[in-house]
Amino acid sequence: MKARIVYASMTGNDEDMADILEEDLQDYGFEVESSDVSFTDASDYLKSDLCIFITYTYGEGKMTDEIADFYEQLKTLDLSGKHFAVMGSGDKTYGEHFCENVFDYEKAFKEAGAIEATAPVTIENAPDDDAIDKIDNAAKEMADLLNG
Ligand SMILES: Cc1cc2nc3c(=O)[nH]c(=O)nc-3n(C[C@H](O)[C@H](O)[C@H](O)COP(=O)(O)O)c2cc1C
Repeated sequence: MKARIVYASMTGNDEDMADILEEDLQDYGFEVESSDVSFTDASDYLKSDLCIFITYTYGEGKMTDEIADFYEQLKTLDLSGKHFAVMGSGDKTYGEHFCENVFDYEKAFKEAGAIEATAPVTIENAPDDDAIDKIDNAAKEMADLLNG
């Protein structure tokens, strides 16, 4: 099974999440490729079974240019038959905008026809032990579903 992780990260928290998930999925036997959103074309997801997007949220939910461009590309794809998962780091002091871009991307993957493999994982700032557990559990759910 091929998993493709794309992450958006300015201060490293989402990149850390991507690294943790990559290792987890490799342990479950997935062939994983991971890259920064700025250097990735959304059509790369077409080559994978499991499509993952991990993102920050800045500016009270408004997308930065790098994730807005990728979002527009994603919405044009036909990902039917593929599975997806979204994750991200935010800050609860932003209230209703907490991890808003994670949920924007959940919607975009659904619009592209993909099937959600596990519930969105949202964490606060840098991944602590609880956050790592959440990522590990999500990876197990994805593996159980796809490796069946
Ligand atoms: C100017 C600014 C705006 C932010 N806006 C939000 C927001 O709207 N919602 C949210 O959940 N977090 C918000 N955050 C918090 C970041 O998303 C959080 O620190 C995240 O861990 C950063 O991820 P990164 O290290 O991968 O860049 C904001 C942070 C800054 C500095």
